[in-house]
Amino acid sequence: MALPKVDFEVGTDGVAVITMCNPTVNALAIPIIMGLKNRFDEAARRNDVKAIVLTGKGGRFSGGFDISVMQKVHQTGDSSHLPDVSVELVVNSIEDSKKPVVAAVEGLALGGGLELAMGCHARVAAPRAQLGLPELTLGIIPGFGGTQRLPRLIGLSKAVEMMLTSKPITSEEGRKFGLIDAIVSSEELLKASRLWALEIGERRKPWIRSLHRTDKIGSLSEARAVLKTARQQVKKTAPHLPQQQACVDVIEHGIVHGGYSGVLKEAEVFKQLVISDTSKGLINVFFAQRAISKVPGVTDIGLKPRNVKKAAVIGGGLMGSGIATALILGNIRVILKEINSEFLLKGIKTIEANVNGLVRRGKLTKQKADAALSLLKGVLDYSEFKDVDLVIEAVIENISLKQTIFGDLEKICPPHCILASNTSTIDLDVVGKTTSSQDRIAGAHFFSPAHIMPLLEIIRTDKTSAQVIVDLITVGKIIKKAPVVVGNCTGFAVNKTFFPYSQGAHLLVNLGVDVFRIDRLICNFGFPIGPFQLLDLAGYGVAVATSKVFADAFSDRIFKSPLLDLLIKSGRNGKNNGKGYYIYEKGGKPKPDPSILPIIEESRRLCNIMPNGKPISITDQEIVEMILFPVVNEACRVLEDGVVIRASDLDIASVLGMSFPNYRGGIVFWADLVGANHIFTSLKKWAQLYGNFYKPSRYLEERALKGIPLSAPASSTPKSMARL
Ligand SMILES: NC(=O)c1ccc[n+]([C@@H]2O[C@H](COP(=O)([O-])OP(=O)(O)OC[C@H]3O[C@@H](n4cnc5c(N)ncnc54)[C@H](O)[C@@H]3O)[C@@H](O)[C@H]2O)c1
Ligand SMILES: *[C@@H]1O[C@H](CO)[C@@H](O)[C@H](O)[C@H]1NC(C)=O
Ligand SMILES: *[C@@H]1O[C@H](CO)[C@@H](O)[C@H](O)[C@H]1NC(C)=O
Ligand SMILES: *[C@@H]1O[C@H](CO)[C@@H](O)[C@H](O)[C@H]1NC(C)=O
Ligand SMILES: *[C@@H]1O[C@H](CO)[C@@H](O)[C@H](O)[C@H]1NC(C)=O
Repeated sequence: MALPKVDFEVGTDGVAVITMCNPTVNALAIPIIMGLKNRFDEAARRNDVKAIVLTGKGGRFSGGFDISVMQKVHQTGDSSHLPDVSVELVVNSIEDSKKPVVAAVEGLALGGGLELAMGCHARVAAPRAQLGLPELTLGIIPGFGGTQRLPRLIGLSKAVEMMLTSKPITSEEGRKFGLIDAIVSSEELLKASRLWALEIGERRKPWIRSLHRTDKIGSLSEARAVLKTARQQVKKTAPHLPQQQACVDVIEHGIVHGGYSGVLKEAEVFKQLVISDTSKGLINVFFAQRAISKVPGVTDIGLKPRNVKKAAVIGGGLMGSGIATALILGNIRVILKEINSEFLLKGIKTIEANVNGLVRRGKLTKQKADAALSLLKGVLDYSEFKDVDLVIEAVIENISLKQTIFGDLEKICPPHCILASNTSTIDLDVVGKTTSSQDRIAGAHFFSPAHIMPLLEIIRTDKTSAQVIVDLITVGKIIKKAPVVVGNCTGFAVNKTFFPYSQGAHLLVNLGVDVFRIDRLICNFGFPIGPFQLLDLAGYGVAVATSKVFADAFSDRIFKSPLLDLLIKSGRNGKNNGKGYYIYEKGGKPKPDPSILPIIEESRRLCNIMPNGKPISITDQEIVEMILFPVVNEACRVLEDGVVIRASDLDIASVLGMSFPNYRGGIVFWADLVGANHIFTSLKKWAQLYGNFYKPSRYLEERALKGIPLSAPASSTPKSMARL
């Protein structure tokens, strides 16, 4: 790959074009920032340069500051990796340049890229470019003057909205709000920008320093009102994210004390936030998401993904129709097969309802919805299967049924067709045993509802071919899922890691801890809902079925609570039948249901684990830890067995599959922040008090004692990867 550099070319018109070259998005890596400084100095010095155009190579202005630099700072704890030159001063010097500078923006100008453009004296853009300041999603604030210049260009409310939501706008919207001065076709972009720069020099166009403007900000009292509303909003929607409040503070500072003071304040706050745990967590998740598509021995051996044009889904139940929905939304033709026309109709209705639900919530246009639905065809036999590229089987969990289906598929589908099963509990090898197509059989574990939840676990057996995995990863991306390749084991990566989550919560309840306190604390930790509200949502039947599976597989370390059975016996089934831990009223927040308390008392009596029959006294922190440390413990087993390729796969899977808070970086990342040793010591203590459910795993013990982070790669090959 070409090294990042900044090109410099002076035309006969006296315009110097400065071009950032760092494929693919011209990220502002250190050499780019240094290069910009040198090139702008050069342009200032040279007598043959009258005006300057700043642009990016390859149809993209710049995607912003190079995030891997921040990752390096996090990993080494050494902030000398940050640029030597103070970037906000580079932007200031562009703005204060004695020669006019115009940004020629195409494709995208995000984060630091947009901040550079805002330092220029005008911005000419190609149609449909993406303009935004998404820094807050990484736990930081804009650091190159963005918090000061954006409000001065487009007004305070719109600027605050763009930063707090991190949502980009198009160049057309930018033109409307005043961020962009002109829109010209991509072919005309450079020519028009050069001309614009010359005209600024000739005073035929205004020479505007964004930071000096005050006309869009309004009076101090108006500004304060806008910021007050923003603060209240942030307090409600993002209580865990310090960068949100900090962003509003820095904007306010600049309004009260002026733009230059604001830029300095911004740089100061940026430096604090860049080393915060929130930023570390969010940046870990950012890279974790990108790492999943790298599978050693699979994606690095030169295989090209094959085109999946037509897929079949067998079974139009909840899972099958969700999967079919995801596929047609990804523009893949889908054959949906059911056993009779009644079930088929029901499946199709569900898919239509899924798609229309997205339209209703403004997530999809009517036109796209119709296009997607036109790709769906329901069938009752296999005649349409002759030319399918992929089959996903989603029938009930029944070995002999699945074996029959796979036997049929092998005969009817073309030899290249991928045969995927959504099985959770049944060994894929057993499913494929009666066929001779084991190399093209894999598991595809979607999370319910399949058309919404973003995670896809791709399960490989030791016989699944690399090509099939490459193809499934590709399909996963096409249908906008994060595909994580995992090995075969009970529950796969996510459900296995999280089976102790609910059990830990139940153990605490039986020790006398209040259900609603537990839910509240888990929400405070950052999960969207607590374990008991989650149970209500899923229905108790699912929990009973899955806990049976885990009880069989992990009998050495499960906690059995009588509570669920008691609830079901008393006619409760969660939100479904309106009888759960909570009372659900239309439009309102779920309210704790006091009539649940006698059932909990009964459970405590039967379980009989409270010391001296009295509820334990316990801190908030310990409650969270007694639920999440056993999860970390199981994550260690997943890592030791090589079920995932790398620790960060489990981080992203926990965030996308279990809604583990992304700003804590994922389950393993968080555990390392907490410290393996504290987790080990705590588990050991609880194991003595409450039994094997808490018994530390060998992996955890080893790493805690040796002081090795849980996320560090194993020195030797994990046992199940060795087989693959
Ligand atoms: N992975 C997850 O996280 C997850 C998500 C959602 C639901 N689930 C589980 O799924 C269960 C309900 O799911 P569901 O509603 O999809 O189940 P379901 O039993 O309604 O769906 C199975 C469908 O497959 C059809 N089918 C059976 N044999 C077939 C064949 N040979 N050819 C074609 N079609 C065939 C059936 O007629 C039925 O419509 C829940 O209890 C829950 O436990 C799991
Ligand atoms: C499983 O499927 C087979 C074959 O389709 C059927 O005969 C059997 O009754 C099913 N078993 C259960 C438990 O549903
Ligand atoms: C995972 O858990 C969910 C809910 O807890 C359950 O519906 C699903 O069947 C499980 N899947 C696997 C693969 O265990
Ligand atoms: C597979 O699909 C069937 C039918 O829709 C469902 O009952 C089962 O729970 C699904 N399994 C998984 C792991 O999602
Ligand atoms: C897959 O996992 C199941 C459940 O743990 C196990 O019984 C089976 O032996 C595994 N198969 C392979 C090939 O590892």
